[in-house]
Amino acid sequence: MMKRTPEPELMDAPEQARAYAEADFSEPNRLFVNLFRELVENTEAGQLIDLGCGPGDICIRLARVLPDWRLVGLDAGPNMLSLAQTAVKNAELQSRIDLVLARLPDELPGKRFDAVISNSLLHHLPEPMVLWESVRTLAGPGCLVQVMDLHRPDTPKEVDAIVDAHAADAPEVLRNDFRNSLHAAYTCSEIQAQIDDAGLSGLTLSRPSDRHWMLQGKLG
Ligand SMILES: C[S@@+](CC[C@H](N)C(=O)[O-])C[C@H]1O[C@@H](n2cnc3c(N)ncnc32)[C@H](O)[C@@H]1O
Repeated sequence: MMKRTPEPELMDAPEQARAYAEADFSEPNRLFVNLFRELVENTEAGQLIDLGCGPGDICIRLARVLPDWRLVGLDAGPNMLSLAQTAVKNAELQSRIDLVLARLPDELPGKRFDAVISNSLLHHLPEPMVLWESVRTLAGPGCLVQVMDLHRPDTPKEVDAIVDAHAADAPEVLRNDFRNSLHAAYTCSEIQAQIDDAGLSGLTLSRPSDRHWMLQGKLG
């Protein structure tokens, strides 16, 4: 199995944040939103927090399909968050999406949420338990959780094949970010061990695409 190579925690240089915000993540973001809609079906609307919300695309997509939910997007990168602010304003969703500049684990909002979600944050964190402990701290009773991230392939050759399959025409800066992220990602067995260590129960791990894992459910 290929060893994990961590990448820097923040990706907040102005040009890196802009390249990320302009990239087309519509396919994985739609997948994330569709799976969350299935998860919340038959649940009362409430308040949701998106950890490491980046440029805010998932918050905006969710706000549009879940009109009764209120959303908080939290991110530690000031440049990323300012891109999110512009996107939320352009979408005219400022009244339903609050954006918070804060860094896990030390700057968590002091309230509990009905849903905690996160996409592609875990592989950036130097210490993965920071995410799982933040989920536990922020979760109200019966909280819904949905966390998705890349899955580390077995070999560098498989990494290159995935980059070619999904980012053939992307700018080199994004192809590089994607390659580094696949090297920094965790495997399903590593995720299972992390959530067992964190004592999080009620969550199911799956592979919703050739390059992602997804953890979903209602916290027990
Ligand atoms: C790869 S981006 C993912 C953005 C977004 N969730 C998406 O799906 O497009 C990872 C984000 O996590 C943020 N981040 C990294 N470490 C963080 C921390 N300790 N606390 C909060 N945000 C963090 C970065 O600033 C960056 O915006």
